[in-house]
Amino acid sequence: MCGIIGIISQTNVSERLLDGLKRLEYRGYDSAGIATLFDGHSIDRRRAEGKLENLIALVGRNPLEGTIGIGHTRWATHGHVTENNAHPMANTIVSVVHNGIIENFATLKEALQAKGCVFTSDTDTEVVMHLVSEAIKEGFSPLAAVQHTLTIVKGAFALAFIFSDHPDLLIAARKGSPLVLGITENELFVGSDAIALAPWVRTVCYLEEGDIAALTVKDGKSNVIILNESGATVQRPFRQTNITTDSISKGDYTHYMLKEIFEQPQTISDTVQSLISLEDTSFHAPLLAIPTTFDHIRIIACGTSFYAGYVAKYWFEKWAHIRTEVEIASEFRYRSPVFDGKTLNIFISQSGETIDTLSALLLVKSKNEPTIAIVNVPESSIAREADLVIQTMVGPEIGVASTKAFTAQLAILATLCLKFAKDKQTIAPDEWKHYFESLIHIPSVISELLRNDDVYQQLATHIYHVQHALYLGRGLNFPIALEGALKLKEISYIHAEGYPAGELKHGPIALIDHTMPVIVLAPDDEWFDKTLSNIQEILVRGAKVIVFTSKEGADKIAKQTKGIPCLGVVILPKTNSFTTPLLYTVPLQLLAYYTAYAKGTDVDQPRNLAKSVTVE
Ligand code: F6R
Repeated sequence: MCGIIGIISQTNVSERLLDGLKRLEYRGYDSAGIATLFDGHSIDRRRAEGKLENLIALVGRNPLEGTIGIGHTRWATHGHVTENNAHPMANTIVSVVHNGIIENFATLKEALQAKGCVFTSDTDTEVVMHLVSEAIKEGFSPLAAVQHTLTIVKGAFALAFIFSDHPDLLIAARKGSPLVLGITENELFVGSDAIALAPWVRTVCYLEEGDIAALTVKDGKSNVIILNESGATVQRPFRQTNITTDSISKGDYTHYMLKEIFEQPQTISDTVQSLISLEDTSFHAPLLAIPTTFDHIRIIACGTSFYAGYVAKYWFEKWAHIRTEVEIASEFRYRSPVFDGKTLNIFISQSGETIDTLSALLLVKSKNEPTIAIVNVPESSIAREADLVIQTMVGPEIGVASTKAFTAQLAILATLCLKFAKDKQTIAPDEWKHYFESLIHIPSVISELLRNDDVYQQLATHIYHVQHALYLGRGLNFPIALEGALKLKEISYIHAEGYPAGELKHGPIALIDHTMPVIVLAPDDEWFDKTLSNIQEILVRGAKVIVFTSKEGADKIAKQTKGIPCLGVVILPKTNSFTTPLLYTVPLQLLAYYTAYAKGTDVDQPRNLAKSVTVE
């Protein structure tokens, strides 16, 4: 949510600010803006509602000069989506961009208004601007003014400031939301993530909680001073980033989402091989560091990551005999959960910044229970807080709807299941080997499936105009039905619900008529016959049924549903039930993608969605 960029250079920065914002678009936003110091003294800015194109056109018509500047993509929290509420906020003294929420802004605003400050927006950010400029008016230096302000505001945020009459100073502060510095000899950058800075820097430095960084470029030489929460100067590690413009390019694909769907054979394989040796099936660190003494497992996550956890419940219980609870983070943190000290807690998050998952992690830590984070961003807040981190090896995921991160999360959880099953000897060695081999083999099975993606384009032509859709699955594939429904609603805006097929008669069957597409996951597993009965029940009620199944499953369906054809029976390669969730996810991603494509929605940046949900 919200993206921040800042640059100090010796050449005009406005074009690069816009370029950086382009790479932050994937985070989700509804307005954007940039501010610079022109003539080195006065703040000037351009802001526009809606897509970045509007801002780029505005700057084209009315250019901004200046060798120092900040930029922002805003995802509205306080105040409507208007130009007035777009960042940067600015007065004649300071300009600021902000990601996060200032929780005590209402009281602060009242106090500042009583002092005579005039507010021109409805944002919480404007409070920060006034606090800093009031402090500067009282004689504080810009750095002292920011330090002072951060003792007053409460909440989770990242901030970047420029100041009139200070053409060589940019200040950045982190408390709860990530910020990374990009460092070269004669230019300095700040960004919400390293993706924003990819073309310009190889050396980056992640700020820690409570840090304030003063970035200066004087006489062509850059300098960074970082103060920690107590005001002491600290050194934070500089590291080399491997994020390049190539790694975040769309290549020949129409959308990032499609590219990321097609990357899955590679990303699943990379993820599994980072955890287990193919030669001797030994586990690599970090799996070796997982505690062995726990009674049960609790998995906590949001959205798609929650559904990955839901599949793991079936895996861990069936094959490793470990009682497993799955919790939606925003519910868990506000219930009164019981902590017994015997629970291993697994947090799943692509971004590693989801505020509810992070808060749930902090809650669990305060109860002294062990924590593991499965994340895609190793520098993220969730990764920093967890006792142990397991990384999904998928590279940056740019499409807002999660695809390759989800299947990599599944791959990690399947590998964990194999580890637990081996440790606890809950399955026979032959059976273990069979599942291990099927996990290693699944990337090539998915590659085979991806070779026939025209079938999904065909199916999409039948459903892109519908209002509603139902997804049904049983066992391990019930959470995949939930995930399939989420993908469809996120990117095509079609209302979709996932149900356990066995729940059909307990309510949702009332929705079935000839307008309702029902997408059924029916691998030829131990639940197949029951699912086949459900298929017959919905076919006779006129639904448009699309079934994903194996060759054997398709034969049985053809035999038993004679005379009432399904809209589509898609034959997927055969695999065993352990790995079906990985395989059956992919057709649902493709169906959602091609449906949204046929409908013409903004697939990579669906309306209202943000890639990392850093506010509640
Ligand atoms: C759906 C999607 C979201 C995220 C959710 C949690 O495609 O991407 O549902 O899964 O917002 O995000 P992370 O995994 O970053 O914690």
